[in-house]
Amino acid sequence: MRDYENDYPDFTQGPDWEHGDEIPSNKSNNRTFFDVIEARASRRGFLVGGLAAAVTGMLGVGVSTRGALAQSTAGSALLGFAPVPVSEDDSVHVPAGYRTQPLGLWGDPISGDMPAYHGANTGEEQGHQIGQHHDGMHYFPIEGTDPYEGSSEDGLYVVNHEYIEPRFLHADKYAGMEMDVRSVVYHDGQRDDDEVLKEINAHGVAIFRIQKQDSGDWAIVEDPRNRRITGNTPMEIGGPVRNSKHVVTKYSPDGTLARGTLNNCAHGVTPWNTYLTCEENWAGYFSNTTMEDQKPDLPREHARYGVSTSPQGSRYGWHLAADGADEYVRFDATTRADSPAEDYRNEPNTFGWVVEIDPFDPNSTPIKRTHLGRFAHEGVVFGNTEPGKPIVAYAGDDARFEYIYKFVSRDVYEPGVTDGSILDHGTLYVARFNDDGSGEWLALAPGRNGLTRDNGFEDLADILVNTRLAGDVAGATKMDRPEWGAVDPATGEVYFTLTNNTRRTEAQVDAANPRAGSQFGHIIRWRENRDDPAATGFNWDLFVIAGDVDSSRTFTGHALNEDNIFACPDGLWFDKDSRLWIQTDIGESAQNRGDLEPMGNNAMLAADPRTGEIRRFLTGPTGQEVTGVCTTPDQRTMFIGLQHPGATTTSEGFANGEFSSNWPHGGNSVPRSGLVVITREDGGIIGA
Ligand code: FEO
Ligand code: CA
Ligand code: CA
Ligand code: CA
Repeated sequence: MRDYENDYPDFTQGPDWEHGDEIPSNKSNNRTFFDVIEARASRRGFLVGGLAAAVTGMLGVGVSTRGALAQSTAGSALLGFAPVPVSEDDSVHVPAGYRTQPLGLWGDPISGDMPAYHGANTGEEQGHQIGQHHDGMHYFPIEGTDPYEGSSEDGLYVVNHEYIEPRFLHADKYAGMEMDVRSVVYHDGQRDDDEVLKEINAHGVAIFRIQKQDSGDWAIVEDPRNRRITGNTPMEIGGPVRNSKHVVTKYSPDGTLARGTLNNCAHGVTPWNTYLTCEENWAGYFSNTTMEDQKPDLPREHARYGVSTSPQGSRYGWHLAADGADEYVRFDATTRADSPAEDYRNEPNTFGWVVEIDPFDPNSTPIKRTHLGRFAHEGVVFGNTEPGKPIVAYAGDDARFEYIYKFVSRDVYEPGVTDGSILDHGTLYVARFNDDGSGEWLALAPGRNGLTRDNGFEDLADILVNTRLAGDVAGATKMDRPEWGAVDPATGEVYFTLTNNTRRTEAQVDAANPRAGSQFGHIIRWRENRDDPAATGFNWDLFVIAGDVDSSRTFTGHALNEDNIFACPDGLWFDKDSRLWIQTDIGESAQNRGDLEPMGNNAMLAADPRTGEIRRFLTGPTGQEVTGVCTTPDQRTMFIGLQHPGATTTSEGFANGEFSSNWPHGGNSVPRSGLVVITREDGGIIGA
């Protein structure tokens, strides 16, 4: 555990709930990166043939002239738009010939009596409105048979709500107070019940029908399937952890049920037309003050995930709601009773999972699919699926020095027959990226890769609840914060964003994570051996090293330029044409400051995976991150998400009603997370 403490300095510092938002402090140059590339240039087996030549070209250029290698933007047939410049203003910019429309804002009503948004909405009203901080999302055509085929004018929209900004959520109550991005109000050490309910109901997932109108704009329409799933919604625990001792709680003494889903970051879309929502930074919602000999005494399934040990250490203090209701008390994971069936010591073990939701059945109970592992689940993406072959899904654990995983089902995919239960049987693997460009998938299963009773792993449920520890023992490669993955529909190659890791030291640099103190991040990709998604080996490469013109490279050896410099890649998605969409999440405390200043506001870019060309497609308003992207089946309408506009508002600015963003309504309005609908004036395919 020494190693763990060294790697996780946040462990004793309370919830690390805004990963990556620290002000960059490491000014190291890229010597280490270029040294690593040089070392790799002599080996064989690059994923893409052109890379070897490109690296040779890179090495032939002196540091001072690297910027001169700026890439042409005239090449790709896949990218047909003129790039937009970096922006620092409070609006959305898209290329000439495109138009945008805000839709599905936080607070917009979708169900019940359709309560209108205003600054004093109650917790119950929030439960019938779209939540805050949009993240992963998908447009399901209304026919309800295929997630990518069907109507391009009528669909069920499903969107995750990652977390909240309480000062904007409680805008009326907190008006005039000096509140920062995470502040909440306590009264005599307790939280107001309705504030807590509103916060829980602003989390989770929203499902709502949207239709294209005669005007060309889109609108939310009432539908019996419109639904909010929140931090309180009853759920089943599925898979190997169901019924295990790890998830026994007062609420579910037999370990089969859980309440709610939280910190829903990215998502997944199954081939059988359901939605997966992923629980990312859930640990910060809990407090475990159990002590022994005046020292914190956390079980490993709390400690390895960063559950707080201080009484008010949880992010929003929900366990301190004044009325002491059971659905709030459960966020206190302290051992309080004689047995785990009488308290909530195991409540944190019911989070960290992938949750399956059937958006077309409003009465369905979401299911936590535990065989996909327990960690800070960013998202999940399926490999290209073939009938008669196993299902393969990839997932990243977004924390510094965490891992990338792959699940391979035991059973094969049968269209029309397969359902979510296929995710309950199979093998979870963790990735090792070797410096020579090869890689291995290490099985996290009883008796394999050191996961034995002698090493403290009782059975599969124990391994899954402690997925991170299992990855440690198996020898996985510690990555620079894996965020979204995407699979090229044409080639099956898998891409993952590695958003940044300012704590990686020179001594910790490896070929897959090539920069110490990485502020800018990079994108890795791999190809499974024999092009078999279920293979246990692969070859990997770096698609792009993000940064400014002096510190960036695409795999072709070109530096990024004013048309495409970016940092902190996060959202990642392939459209049907294999256009790769890249979204950025520079933390709000780093935006437009220091070394991140040249990148401006967070943005979305499009890339051609074959040529390496990248162009900036969209820039967002102030303080937000761009997260979530999909299109209608005809690719002529794109939806993206803008999360936490105005998060750069200072405490004083908030007190004065001067928000750093007033998106989308302008004036001095409270900023609201939301979707942006993007269309072309000529009705063409987005990006082409
Ligand atoms: Fe929720 Fe890792 O972004
Ligand atoms: Ca993210
Ligand atoms: Ca973020
Ligand atoms: Ca992020």
